[in-house]
Amino acid sequence: MDNSHPIIGWEKESPVPENYQFNDYLNVRNGRLFLEDLDLTNLFVDDGPDQPFDRALPSPLEIVYLPIIGYRIKQMKQIFAEVIEEVGYDGRFHYTYASKANAAEEVIRTTLKSGANHEMSSAVDVNIARIMIRRGLLTPDKYIICNGFKPAGGSYAANIVQLRALHDKLIPVVEDLSELPPLIESDLPFAVGLRLKTYGHHASIEEAEAANSRFGLDLDNLWKAAYYIAAAPNLNLTLFHSMVGSQILDEDDFVAWLKPGIETYARLRQRQPSLRIFDFGGGMPAPMTLNFEFDYYRFARLLLTTLQEMCGRYNVPVPDVMGEFGRYTTSEHGAHLFKIIADKENKSKLPWYIIDGSIMSSFPDSWALQEHFIVLPLNHLDKPFQQVQLGGITCDSDDVYPPKTSHSPLYLPVETDDLYIGFFSIGAYQEMLGGVGGSKHCVVPEAYELIVEKEEDGRYQYTVLSGQSEADVLENLGYHVQP
Ligand SMILES: Cc1ncc(COP(=O)(O)O)c(C=O)c1O
Repeated sequence: MDNSHPIIGWEKESPVPENYQFNDYLNVRNGRLFLEDLDLTNLFVDDGPDQPFDRALPSPLEIVYLPIIGYRIKQMKQIFAEVIEEVGYDGRFHYTYASKANAAEEVIRTTLKSGANHEMSSAVDVNIARIMIRRGLLTPDKYIICNGFKPAGGSYAANIVQLRALHDKLIPVVEDLSELPPLIESDLPFAVGLRLKTYGHHASIEEAEAANSRFGLDLDNLWKAAYYIAAAPNLNLTLFHSMVGSQILDEDDFVAWLKPGIETYARLRQRQPSLRIFDFGGGMPAPMTLNFEFDYYRFARLLLTTLQEMCGRYNVPVPDVMGEFGRYTTSEHGAHLFKIIADKENKSKLPWYIIDGSIMSSFPDSWALQEHFIVLPLNHLDKPFQQVQLGGITCDSDDVYPPKTSHSPLYLPVETDDLYIGFFSIGAYQEMLGGVGGSKHCVVPEAYELIVEKEEDGRYQYTVLSGQSEADVLENLGYHVQP
């Protein structure tokens, strides 16, 4: 496969063949794009008995396709189960959802129903956990991992202490010594974790010490924290957290970066026998383009055998392994559909196709980080294509796609009459960064949202959430419009 640039869509002028499969959930039938069995064009046109609603839905439209979250969780658990068996690993795997990637109710509910543990990072997250406990979804068998800065006197620390009364398997991960006093003073029995400062690529723990990262404890403070925890009658050191980055696209690099943390785990375990979980944090990449390649099996095999080898060297038992999967869990369940409202030829290098929404406020990473996402037409796939560039409806010069520094060509059908397109794999971080509710850049109203769930018999269940009206946007900004 061509890896010279991220492949974000169809790269030819010829039509897409019938039954073409772009990836494991996007396929072509009768010149239209289907998300599994969902005909996406059909959401916008009132054209017969297959139309799932009593009316066409408005564009733009956000799609929240929850089944994919379940598939991904199941897939990763299966991979680790097989590799544990294959390499004879004497420990368990704990799949944990990093809720910062997408904290929407339907997403958290789905991760919990699909068997994930729960990870959080701020004071308000504790309220979400409380709600899920009350609803019987965050059950006593699931871990709740509390990451993020939680200094004494802050509301996050106070909320965690309160949450402990509701949930036994709660593990605050200490990343600064100032986080310990509220836990010690609570007098509640707490399993705790320690986060090592290891963000980035470091060949040794000495190099990691010098890293310019605000996350985690340096080695001196890690030992100190372990000592305070051992001396506190109500604390039990249980978990070691060592996160090295985000979207690490090479399996060897990923595990090599984790190695200084794994060695520190083994050394700490020699002194602290209660320690039993190695948490490698986030960083697991997810397919956001069509030529994504990462061998999850190979990663799991490398990680577990490295843990075996290092723990053998230090003569300590291997730990359970935990991953905090944010992007991997939620990237692919999210799509955002738009209509092409103009095809503008103004002697620019390529024709401009203008969409009825904003690219930059819907997918902030595309302009802030030059991130790529998959873009495909929903209809006219059986017609000729041409290379184009996309413009948002705002008057901002950054509201374009592909990203300005990109080398990825974008092809869309030449025929633009009633042409709809979709951005895919945008379910992680984009909505949370762009904000939910409120008012957006260039006062563009928020889109309608379609939540799709699947019954056990394969039938779809839909929930439509209204978008913002013009009056909503004005009201948000303090313009109280008379009816
Ligand atoms: C502590 C921690 N865990 C997990 C994650 C999730 O990372 P990812 O989305 O790469 O899985 C993050 C992301 O910032 C994080 O800070």
